[in-house]
Amino acid sequence: MQKRNLILIGFMGVGKSSVGKELSLMLKRELIDTDTYIEAKMRMSISEIFESFGEPYFRGLERELCQSLSERRSKIVATGGGIIKNADNIENLKQGGIIIYLKSYPENIAYNLRYDNSRPLLRVDNKLKKISELMAEREHYYNEYADIIIDVSNIGIRETLDRILGEVEVYENENQDN
Ligand code: S3P
Repeated sequence: MQKRNLILIGFMGVGKSSVGKELSLMLKRELIDTDTYIEAKMRMSISEIFESFGEPYFRGLERELCQSLSERRSKIVATGGGIIKNADNIENLKQGGIIIYLKSYPENIAYNLRYDNSRPLLRVDNKLKKISELMAEREHYYNEYADIIIDVSNIGIRETLDRILGEVEVYENENQDN
C-alpha cells in the first residue's frame, strides 16, 4: 500500500538526518536525505556547491528534487533547513506527505553545532547570533507549514521517534480520506 511520505523539516542541527535514518530503519521505508542526494548527484559537498556555484544554484537543485518527490510515496524525507525558503517546495512535499517540524532553539542548536564546520551559512565568528537571525527569518514558515510539531530541545532520539510515531498515527486517523 502506498503511504504518505514523512517529511522532516527544521533548522540546521536539530537532528533531521539522524531521526530520518532511524525512522527509515524502523518503518522499512527508503530514506531520501535532500542534502545527501544533492551531494551524490553533484559529486561535491554542500560547501563546495555553495563555493563553486553559489546559494541560488543550490536552491535550484533543492527545488528540482522537491518537484520529483511530489510523485513519490512511502518515503522518509530529511530536508535541508532552508527548504522552506521556497513555498513551491512545501507545496510539492505536501502532495502525499506529512510535514513534521523538529523544533529547537538557537542556544541548543549552537551547542549541537559547536564543532561543526560543514554548514556554509554558519561559517561566521558568532554562530549563535547568525542562528538567531536565521531562525527569526524562518521560524514562522516552519510553524506554518508543519502538520506536526515536535519540540526536540529537551528530549533524546528515542523519545523523538516515539513522539513522531504517535503523532503520525493520530494524523493518519484524522485524515483517512485525503
Ligand atoms: C541549510 C541547511 C543545510 C544545507 C545547507 C543550507 C540552510 O542542511 O542544506 O547548508 O539553509 O538551513 P541541514 O539542515 O541538514 O544542516
